[in-house]
Amino acid sequence: MCGIVGYIGVKPVKQILIDGLRELEYRGYDSAGIAVLQNNTFSLFKAVGKLVNLEEKAKNFETEGFSIGIGHTRWATHGKPTELNAHPHLGENSYVVHNGIIENYQELKASLMAQGVQFLSQTDTEVIVHLFEHHLKTASDAFDAFKKTLVQLEGAYAILLINSNESGTIFFAKHGSPMIIGRNEAGEILFGSSDAALIGKCHEVIYLEDGHYGYGSAKGISLFDQNHQPVALRFSPLAENKLSAQKEGYRFFMEKEIYEQSRVLADTLMGRLRDESVYFEEIDPELFQGINEIKLCACGTSYHAAMVASYLFERHAKIKTSVEIASEFRYREPFLTQDTLFVVISQSGETADTLESLKMAKKFGLKTMVICNVDNSSMVRLADASILTRAGIEKGVASTKAFATQVCVLWMLSLSLAGERHTLEASEIQNQIHLLRTLPSTVTVDSALHEQLRRLSKRYLHGHGFFFIGRDVFFPLALEGALKLKEISYLHAEGYPSGEMKHGPIALADPKLFTIALLPQHKLYDKTKSNIEELSARDSTICSISPLDFDKADDHIRTKPSEHYMCEFFEMMVVLQLLSMEIAIRLGNDVDMPRNLAKSVTVE
Ligand code: AGP
Repeated sequence: MCGIVGYIGVKPVKQILIDGLRELEYRGYDSAGIAVLQNNTFSLFKAVGKLVNLEEKAKNFETEGFSIGIGHTRWATHGKPTELNAHPHLGENSYVVHNGIIENYQELKASLMAQGVQFLSQTDTEVIVHLFEHHLKTASDAFDAFKKTLVQLEGAYAILLINSNESGTIFFAKHGSPMIIGRNEAGEILFGSSDAALIGKCHEVIYLEDGHYGYGSAKGISLFDQNHQPVALRFSPLAENKLSAQKEGYRFFMEKEIYEQSRVLADTLMGRLRDESVYFEEIDPELFQGINEIKLCACGTSYHAAMVASYLFERHAKIKTSVEIASEFRYREPFLTQDTLFVVISQSGETADTLESLKMAKKFGLKTMVICNVDNSSMVRLADASILTRAGIEKGVASTKAFATQVCVLWMLSLSLAGERHTLEASEIQNQIHLLRTLPSTVTVDSALHEQLRRLSKRYLHGHGFFFIGRDVFFPLALEGALKLKEISYLHAEGYPSGEMKHGPIALADPKLFTIALLPQHKLYDKTKSNIEELSARDSTICSISPLDFDKADDHIRTKPSEHYMCEFFEMMVVLQLLSMEIAIRLGNDVDMPRNLAKSVTVE
C-alpha cells in the first residue's frame, strides 16, 4: 500500500509533506518523493530507500509563503524500486502521485506512445499524467482535462495531480484506494491516504468515497461524484491516536490484515486475468522452455502455500512438482536435474534458509523464480524471474494476507502453465478465471461469522492440544491453521492429512483433544467426513468447518456454499485466521508480536 500526502497553505511545505509521509511509513515502501509548486515553479525530490534519503536530497530546499505540494511513498508493484519509478511522475508541466493499480495502463501507454509521448518509468502511474496533458490540449480547462482522464482509467486509484498553470490547485480522485481530505482553522487543506498522516495537522476530515473527485485550492474544496454531480462537504472529527489510526481502528495489525485480504487480493489479481488466460507481464514464457519439473522451496507459512501449489500444478499443468522445506533442502545433498524450475516462495524475500536454497539451485544451474511480497529483496534480486504478490506491508508476525496472495498467485500460475501446456480445456481455464475474480468477495469477513468465532473461542482455551485435519489442498491449509494457532496462542496444535488419523494420531482422541476439521463440499467430502466420524466416535471434541451441516460435530462453522473447492479453501482460511486470533486475544497474548518470533528469519 503506497502512502500519499498533499498540502495547500502558507507553511513550509517540504517538512509538512515529509512528516506526513513519515506517519505512513508503517505501510511499507521502497522509495519516496515530493513535488512542490510555488509561483508556477516546480521543485521535485525523489529517493530510493528510506525517507532520510529523501530528506538529504531536499535539505537545502525551503519555501516561504503560499505553496502546494504532493508526496508519495511507493511499494513497488509495477517496475523496480528506482528513482525513475518513484512518484511523483512528471508529464510536461504536471506531476501526479497515485496509490492503486491502473489495470488498463498498457493500452493507454501504447496509445500515448503512438502519439509520440515519451515515458520515463516502468510504472502504470505515469500514464495518468501523460493522459491528463493529452486532454489538456483540447479540454476547456485543467479540471475538464482531469475529468476526461479519470473516465479512461480502469482499476484502483487514489490520485493527487498538480499542474504548473494551476499553481494553487490540487486535483484529486478516489476509486478503490483510500483518500482523505482534512482542513484546519488556518484554512490549510491536507490530503492523505490514511488519517495517520493528518493527525495533529487538522481536526476535521472527509473520507472520500469511490467515484469522488475534485480539486482543492486556497478557496476551499470542490467535490463531485461519479455522475459529475456536486457533493456536499461533510466533515467528521479526526481520530487523535496515531497507532489506532495505523491500525485503522482494528485491535491488532493482524486483524486489519485479515480484513484487508479482500482489497489486496484485488490488487494481486489486477491486470493478470484475461477472459481466457492468466497473464504475468513480468514473466517471459521462455522461462518454462525445457522445464519438465517444478521444485518449490520455502519455510513456514510460505511452505504451506508451496504445498497447495504442488496439488494445483500437477492437477492443472500436469507437471511433476515437488516441495521442499528450505532448512532441510540446504543440507540433504539433493539430486537436481537441469530441466527443473526452482521456485522459492517468501513474503520477505530475506529468509535465510530459503535464500541459501535459492543460491544452491542457481549454483546447480537451474532456472529460478521467486514469488515474493517485497520488491528489491535479496531473493527478487537473485532469482531469474519474480512475481510480486502485492500484499503490501504485513506488520503482523503471523502471516495472513501474504499467505492469501501467495496461494492466489500460485493458483493463477498453475492456470497460466496449463494454458501454455494445453493441459486444461479452455472452458475450464475460463471457469477458474471467473472463480479467481470472486476471491475478493470470498475473503470479505462476515461480521456475524467473526462474532460467532469470537464467542466460540472461549471454549478452546485449554485442552491438551489441537488436531487440524483436511485432505488435498485442505491438508496444507490444516497445517497453516495449526501454525497460526501455535504462533499466537502458544497452544499445541498439529496439522494432519485427515486420512492419517487411523495410523496413530487417533490414539490421542478424547474429549480434551480438539479437532478442527476442514470439510469442503467439493473435494473428497465423504472421505473426510468418515475420518472425522472416526474421531467423533472416540469422543474427540470436534469443530467442523463446512458449507454443509455435520451432526457429529460439537461445534460447527457453516461457510457459504460455493461452486469450487478453491473458493472453499479461501473462505476456510479466513475462518482459521480469525479463530486463532480470537483464541490468542482471550489468552491475552500480543497477537502482532508473539513471543520468540521475528517477522523475517534472516538467520539460520
Ligand atoms: C508464518 O506466520 C510465519 N511468519 C513464518 O512461518 C513465515 O511464514 C516464515 O518465516 C517464512 O517467512 P517468509 O515468507 O518471509 O520467507
